[in-house]
Amino acid sequence: MSESSNINKATNITWKATNITWHGMKVDKQVRAKANKQKPCVLWLTGLSGCGKSTLADALEIKLQEMGHRTYLLDGDNVRHGLSKDLSFSDEDRVENIRRVAEVARLMVDAGLIVITSFISPFRAERQLARSLMEPDEFFEIFVDTPLEVCEQRDPKGLYKMARAGKIKHFTGIDSDYELPENAQMVINGADSEPDVLADQVIAFLRQQVVLNADD
Ligand code: ADX
Repeated sequence: MSESSNINKATNITWKATNITWHGMKVDKQVRAKANKQKPCVLWLTGLSGCGKSTLADALEIKLQEMGHRTYLLDGDNVRHGLSKDLSFSDEDRVENIRRVAEVARLMVDAGLIVITSFISPFRAERQLARSLMEPDEFFEIFVDTPLEVCEQRDPKGLYKMARAGKIKHFTGIDSDYELPENAQMVINGADSEPDVLADQVIAFLRQQVVLNADD
């Protein structure tokens, strides 16, 4: 087989493995979802560093757990301590980071979980790639829209200050792009409210989308 025919169109990755066949498992996603008594999905949080993704993700996961749901939170900084520790913040490496996270999120949805991802995920194409790996009713892009000035003022890790001083290169919003979401199912105003209030807004949205039951 020629190399070009070996390119997976969705991920733009060349498959290096050959002689592999898909194994149709006997226990499938539906069975696992039923056992977990929930509709598995990905809540894909995107936004600038310091926009409030991680605090919203925490508040949201706590609420879902209290409702009895099975969840997992994939967090940008944490994933870069393990799965993506070999990646930098170059455009190319960010693309690879999001590809890995999207694939992991897909596996977790297959495992029957409600997955919250908290990554800057600055590029539309990669967010689209993540969406394309899931069923349409399994993927919800949630834009945590906090103005750059507010994120920079918060600067919880002092990274904006370092970026402005030229001590960190390729910092999102400073000298690396953030492409505004055009297809987000939900836009959250991250500047105004407490994480708890924002999490309630997401829960209400998930009820509307029938991901959660009204009496959950
Ligand atoms: S992404 O662009 O690949 O989606 P990711 O969400 O994994 O980014 O990591 C972002 C986190 O890494 C930020 O919250 C911040 O704490 C830290 N970080 C360190 N260097 C950078 C940088 N150059 N740009 C953005 N975030 C950075």
